[in-house]
Amino acid sequence: MAQTPPPASPAPDGAPQGAPPPAVPFERVLTAAMGQPGSHELDHYLRRGGYVGAHKALTSMTPEEVIKVVTDSKLRGRGGAGFPAGIKWSGTRGNPAPRYLVVNADESEPGTYGNRYAMDTDPHMLLEGMIICSFAVGINLAYIYIRGENLHGYETLELAVRQARERGYLGRGLFGTDFNLEIYVHRGAGAYVCGEETALMESLEGKRAQPRTRPPHPFQVGGGLFGRPTVVNNVETLMCVPHIIVRGAEWFAAIGSPNCPGPKVYCVSGNVNRPGIYEAPMGLLLSELIFGDEYAQGVPGGRAVKAVSPGALASPLISGGELEVKLDVDAVRAPPYRTQLGAGGIIVYDDSVCMVELLLRAEQFFAHESCGKCVPCREGTHWMVDVLRRITAGRGREKDLDLLNNVAGNMSGLPFHQRTLCALADFAAGPMMSAIGKFREDFDYHIREQACPQQRQLAHA
Ligand SMILES: Cc1cc2nc3c(=O)[nH]c(=O)nc-3n(C[C@H](O)[C@H](O)[C@H](O)COP(=O)(O)O)c2cc1C
Ligand code: SF4
Repeated sequence: MAQTPPPASPAPDGAPQGAPPPAVPFERVLTAAMGQPGSHELDHYLRRGGYVGAHKALTSMTPEEVIKVVTDSKLRGRGGAGFPAGIKWSGTRGNPAPRYLVVNADESEPGTYGNRYAMDTDPHMLLEGMIICSFAVGINLAYIYIRGENLHGYETLELAVRQARERGYLGRGLFGTDFNLEIYVHRGAGAYVCGEETALMESLEGKRAQPRTRPPHPFQVGGGLFGRPTVVNNVETLMCVPHIIVRGAEWFAAIGSPNCPGPKVYCVSGNVNRPGIYEAPMGLLLSELIFGDEYAQGVPGGRAVKAVSPGALASPLISGGELEVKLDVDAVRAPPYRTQLGAGGIIVYDDSVCMVELLLRAEQFFAHESCGKCVPCREGTHWMVDVLRRITAGRGREKDLDLLNNVAGNMSGLPFHQRTLCALADFAAGPMMSAIGKFREDFDYHIREQACPQQRQLAHA
């Protein structure tokens, strides 16, 4: 039987009923233990109030109450699409058992590494979120699908699962209830498309990782793992859950953007003075994240920001003149930005970066990672690489920009016209169209001068 965890730390909100919630200073909860030796160990987690949320949910709440709290918190999926977690859970619960939970820990896109650090630091926080989700949805078997190359993460999770099982936090009769849960950690085989939830489930079933046609959707019979109703959630989504149960929906909903609230782990890379992981409220200004003293502290050499990928390589580019955008799912989607937050991988490019060279590398990645099931994606990604190669080799033609726009438009037609089985085609097309739209002068220079504008800059430096 599971041990009773130590008492919860008190909720920060002691306001009288009916009064507006006081402005509480932001507190890091997802990365609070980062840098603390041994934070991945069960005892360390227990000393920090670990498993209090699971204990509370399983012993004093009904599954419906747990789902209501998560729904009221307005937690939205952190894997990219921003789908409300509570709605996903209740939809799955509404379909017949057996049901499964699958944690998406694939994280294979260049520029994303927040889940990796979170799992290395606090694997038990993820397990606790999984226990609460499984209890709420009526699930007794859950999987963590982790990127194959992340061997350290796999070993850390295996240790955490073993410790939790030994101490009764997993297995039979959790916290003295009749609720049973087993968790298995599964290593992927190293393909970006395995992060797409239906390809992930194919892979988990031992098949070739190619996205499925929908409907049926994963939450429905026939659409999920082994054909059963399945919740697929991102690591960070589930790590938010124990805090929501302990501190309450109102606490979570009051952090950051009203429609997309909560703490968010942003991982910043590229041309910044202090790349790394930063936990901040959803809706932080991009300019603050790049230049703020507590964050990335600006661009080396004081150079200007030319462009930003706000949702790692797959997101349409934001120009240096658009840095006052709020980093939340809806704000970055809205005009004039029309991009996506993805999993919060922010890549900053200074004014020494040529957008044609950047796009060539990005499209090479997507061409390599396309699973080949849909014609627009399989052919389009390679067409874009061929044309970009021609331009960077000094053989570009004026009409190549129309051709690139045409190919990209036939793959996607933003926002997400669903011309393909999954969004990888949109991920390849969006950055292409935004680069031509916002940085056309780089393409024109390459075609006109048969040279890279960046090399001209270097020559004059
Ligand atoms: C090509 C591709 C790769 C993806 N990679 C990931 C990933 O590594 N991690 C992730 O959580 N979601 C990824 N997604 C999104 C998932 O399909 C899914 O929406 C997500 O896991 C749902 O979890 P959430 O609701 O908690 O965000 C990817 C989607 C596509 C199209
Ligand atoms: S869009 Fe690309 S990666 Fe996705 S299913 Fe189609 S071919 Fe495969």
